[in-house]
Amino acid sequence: MTDREWAGEVREKILQKYEAVAPRNEHKVPYSAKNGVFDDHSKDIYWWTNGFWGGILWQLYKVTEKPLYRSMAEELESKMDEIFLHSAWMDHDSGFRWLPTASADYTLTGSEEAKNRIRIAADNLAGRFNLNGRFIRAWNEDPRSENKRTGWAIIDCMMNLPLLYRASDLFDDPRWKAIAVAHADTAMTAFIRPDGSSNHIVAFDPVKGGVVRTYGGQGIQVGSSWTRGQTWALYGFTLSYVHTKDEKYLATARKVADRYIERIPADGRIPVDFDQAPDCDWEDETSAAIAACGLLTLEKILADTDPAAADRYHAAAMRLLKVLVADGNFDPAADEILDRCSGAYHDKEHNFPIIYGDYYLIEAIWKLTGDELFIW
Ligand code: GLY
Repeated sequence: MTDREWAGEVREKILQKYEAVAPRNEHKVPYSAKNGVFDDHSKDIYWWTNGFWGGILWQLYKVTEKPLYRSMAEELESKMDEIFLHSAWMDHDSGFRWLPTASADYTLTGSEEAKNRIRIAADNLAGRFNLNGRFIRAWNEDPRSENKRTGWAIIDCMMNLPLLYRASDLFDDPRWKAIAVAHADTAMTAFIRPDGSSNHIVAFDPVKGGVVRTYGGQGIQVGSSWTRGQTWALYGFTLSYVHTKDEKYLATARKVADRYIERIPADGRIPVDFDQAPDCDWEDETSAAIAACGLLTLEKILADTDPAAADRYHAAAMRLLKVLVADGNFDPAADEILDRCSGAYHDKEHNFPIIYGDYYLIEAIWKLTGDELFIW
């Protein structure tokens, strides 16, 4: 069986599963699931992952054109408009919120409302750029601590930059793209370590610029290798290359990808942090799914210029996907597919379903079958 045929079979299982999953979750905004039932984040509409439910629905709609998927995705996108009314809810994650929703919607339907949301979200994200240090600020103030986090940036933000590239393309105005490029240039040196691994949090001096220190963030500690952060870097720099064709972003993405591949454990299951103890069974399947998307995108970019590297990235993506699919839950009675994801190393709970794990798995499978709706 070819990899494409294999992916076609997986796609059919996903489509069948969602015939049951979507109708029984019609008005929910899932983040996780317990005992096979999605939770509902409708009351926490600001939450950074809420857009991924829309992303799943739009990817399904792209393939099936079922009106239910579209109406559910449109309902979510409208609910999320409330976020625009609360400055404290708006942060660096505007890309995660509005690329899988408004941008996907606009690409498929040409909705003017969706296009308007892209502009509002991109303006806000661009407004977080600090010229002193040339970085996009991450979170807002932490009400639980003295730390104002004014100079903090995080590697995750590489995945939000496509909102700025997209806005520049859509509105034929280079301002947003210039900010994305400035942040990417800073991230390349401040976040990516000589061995190709990535810091999670970098604190800059918000007045003078320059790196003050790094933090371990969602990984174990300063200097360790939080695996999802590695994949935000891997896929994020790949996408900056896709949007700019600047070779230095491709070189950075490859360096991160090569290091990630080197550290995939023998069983192909990705830990929360590559530096965690070998007997710790905490996994993060979101990292594996995001990595697969990044690696398959690198494969496509390099297919003509460096076919050996393209094959290597394809093989690594397949290795990750085969394990995810073998461990995944395709029973239509359960809402989630992946159930061994983790938010952060120091969280109390590990190995549970997280919605964007399922989103990136679907995106990766659709890439293999040629059905992908490109939302980034
Ligand atoms: N963007 C936050 C995370 O990856 O958990």
